Amino acid sequence: MAIIWKEEYSLGIEGIDNQHKKFIAILSSLSKALSERREKDIIADILLDLQEYAEMHLAFEEKYFEKFHYENEEEHNKEHRYYRWKIQEFIDRHKAEDQLLSIEMLHFLEDWLEEHIMKSDKKYVECFRRNGIK
Ligand SMILES: [Fe+2]
Ligand SMILES: [Fe+2]
Repeated sequence: MAIIWKEEYSLGIEGIDNQHKKFIAILSSLSKALSERREKDIIADILLDLQEYAEMHLAFEEKYFEKFHYENEEEHNKEHRYYRWKIQEFIDRHKAEDQLLSIEMLHFLEDWLEEHIMKSDKKYVECFRRNGIK
């Protein structure tokens, strides 16, 4: 099944939706590569993209949480720390040539979309809007 952007993923904040679209694109390319059994060719690039996503997007959200004194800042950043830790773990395992890595990565990313982007991220929308972010 192809993973594509759906309206239900939208937070209604264009700049953030565009960053989340980047995440969906990474998830989608891993899923596609796995179904075509060519994940070994792209996994190093995927890991780099996932790291870059953290530096770009997670840091972006965190900057605003601090600026707006977002009430769930601590809880939310804890999930971001888990993401960063997990990606680092995947990188280490990639170096060790762990065979189950790509399928486990796919599950982690699907879970991140459902549990983080669609739940935790949606919780800050009201706070961001109150502070003028559209
Ligand atoms: Fe996010
Ligand atoms: Fe987030």
